[in-house]
Amino acid sequence: MTAGREVVVGLDQVRKHYGETVALDGVSLEIRAGEAVAVMGPSGCGKSTLLNLIAGLDRPSSGRVVVHGEDLGAMNETGLALFRRRRVGMIFQFFNLIDDLSALDNVALAAQLTGTTAAQARRRALDLLDELGIAGRARMYPAVLSGGERQRVAVARALMNRPAVLLADEPTGALDSHSGEQVMDLLLDLHQIGQTLLLVTHDERLAERCASRVVELADGRVTAERTLESSR
Ligand SMILES: Nc1ncnc2c1ncn2[C@@H]1O[C@H](COP(=O)(O)OP(=O)(O)O)[C@@H](O)[C@H]1O
Ligand SMILES: [Mg+2]
Repeated sequence: MTAGREVVVGLDQVRKHYGETVALDGVSLEIRAGEAVAVMGPSGCGKSTLLNLIAGLDRPSSGRVVVHGEDLGAMNETGLALFRRRRVGMIFQFFNLIDDLSALDNVALAAQLTGTTAAQARRRALDLLDELGIAGRARMYPAVLSGGERQRVAVARALMNRPAVLLADEPTGALDSHSGEQVMDLLLDLHQIGQTLLLVTHDERLAERCASRVVELADGRVTAERTLESSR
C-alpha cells in the first residue's frame, strides 16, 4: 500500500490556457511514492499538458504544481532546467532520441548534463541498457533500432538520474502490439520495484496492466478516479 507514503506529485487547482483554449480547468491530483497512475481521456482533453506541467516543461496559468517537495511555480528558468534534469524522467510516443548519438550516448548524456563524469555516465548507461535487455544495441544508432528497442533506450535515459517520478506520454502509442507488450512489461517491472509512475495513455490494457489508479480527464477536468483491483 502506498497510502501513507510521501506525496511525490501534488497539483492544486491547476489551470492552463493557451490563448482562448483552456487545456486544464482546475485539476487537483496527488501521487504518492510507489504509485503508478494512468491518466486517460479523449484526444485534446489535456493529458500532455498535465504531464508537461509536472515535468517543468511548461508553467500553469494558475494553481500550484509541487514535485518532490519543490514548488515549480516559484522557480526561475535555471531552477526549472535543473529540476527537469534531476527530478523527472520522461518518455514520449515517438521516443525523442537524438539521431546522431548511439543508444549508449543518448542514455549517458542525461547524466553528463547533471555533472556526472563521462566515464561514470557511460558505466551507468551500460548497466541500465543491460537491465533493460538491450546492452547488445549500445553502440547502435536510433535509425537501426526497432521501435521497441528505441523506447527501451528512452526508458533507460529517463531512469538515468533516478527520477522521483517517471512520466510517460502514450509510451506504446507508436509501437506494434508485440513491442508495446514489452514496454508495458518493463513499466510494470519498474512499478513493482517501487518506481513512481505517471502514464498517459489511450490504451485501457496498458492502464489495467501497469497502473494502480486511473484518473479520467475530460475537457481539462478530472471526471473520475478508480483504484484498480491489481493495485500494489
Ligand atoms: N502549445 C500549445 N498551444 C496552443 N494550444 C495548445 C498547446 N498545447 C495544447 N494545446 C491545446 O490544449 C488542449 C489540450 O491539449 P493536450 O494536452 O495536448 O491534449 P491531449 O494530450 O489529451 O491530447 C487542446 O485543445 C490543444 O489543442
Ligand atoms: Mg497528448
